[in-house]
Amino acid sequence: MAFPVHRPRRLRSTPAVRSLVRETDLRADRLIYPLFVVPGRDVVEPVASMPGVEHRSVDRAVERAREVFELGIRAVLLFGLPRTKDEQGSEAFAPDGAVQQAVAALKDALPDLLVVTDVCLCAYTSHGHCGILTADGRIDNDATLEQLARVAVSHARAGADWVAPSDMMDGRVAAIRRALDQEGFTDTAILSYAVKYASAFYGPFREAAHSAPAFGDRRTHQMDPANVREALREVALDLEEGADLVMVKPALAYLDVIRAVRQQFPVPVVAYNVSGEYSLVKAAARLGWVDERAVVLEALTAMRRAGADAIITYHAPDVARWLA
Ligand code: PBG
Repeated sequence: MAFPVHRPRRLRSTPAVRSLVRETDLRADRLIYPLFVVPGRDVVEPVASMPGVEHRSVDRAVERAREVFELGIRAVLLFGLPRTKDEQGSEAFAPDGAVQQAVAALKDALPDLLVVTDVCLCAYTSHGHCGILTADGRIDNDATLEQLARVAVSHARAGADWVAPSDMMDGRVAAIRRALDQEGFTDTAILSYAVKYASAFYGPFREAAHSAPAFGDRRTHQMDPANVREALREVALDLEEGADLVMVKPALAYLDVIRAVRQQFPVPVVAYNVSGEYSLVKAAARLGWVDERAVVLEALTAMRRAGADAIITYHAPDVARWLA
């Protein structure tokens, strides 16, 4: 008998064969593109820590959303920056806040674009923490829930399709679901940042969102990177509280977590390919050390293979262009 008997290379021999037997695909309509919206008009300002990412006023954010929609991207995730910050992060639920205005303008200009909003206080509080603080500087979990529910309702009222709480307070999904339902927003879905680690990969984002904590860190609410059983518990709780979809964040260093969540729960899983993952690739590509296109397509395919249904990524427009 000829040797070797088994030749797996037969199924890798040509592009036609490879695409026929490929197990995972990547498409522009699986991607969610984050946008940073700022007050004002006609503002487009690059974010230094994230090449290719900008702060945009509502008018210019709509322009960008139209471009990416034409590339085949069907969803955006909005982050807002306030005019003023205070202890309670009150501008986060202002009806005329940048996010609220952007939601309305986007739904008006592009009715088929899915508009998701990040619900958190860290970009809106003077101290940069994700919640309301007690007198001794700790986060008051339960007082924060009311505030988060107000933010979510203000986004739903502006027309958001999904709200995505990223604060990691206990009980926020239930508080938000209850408030949305009470106000009649029963069709607004909750994409919970159920599994959010206390990650150094958020570094570039905090410059983009001006949301670094003035003191301390986020380790009393975001998860320890060493844990995975805890991730399953967080997902179970959020689903019980009424989350429609769950997120794992970051993505690339947490593929095992994406896989574990996918295997255990019958709900859509979204992976967040975060700012640090993005900027590392951008920097290495700029230095000529990696092939950006190849590295990004490989990394995002790996997230899909691990079990992500959709991926939030700053690379979305690049990817859509590469795949076209
Ligand atoms: C807000 C929030 C953060 C990110 C998304 N929502 C920052 C943080 O938790 O410190 C990070 C996104 C990224 O790094 O791309 N709480």
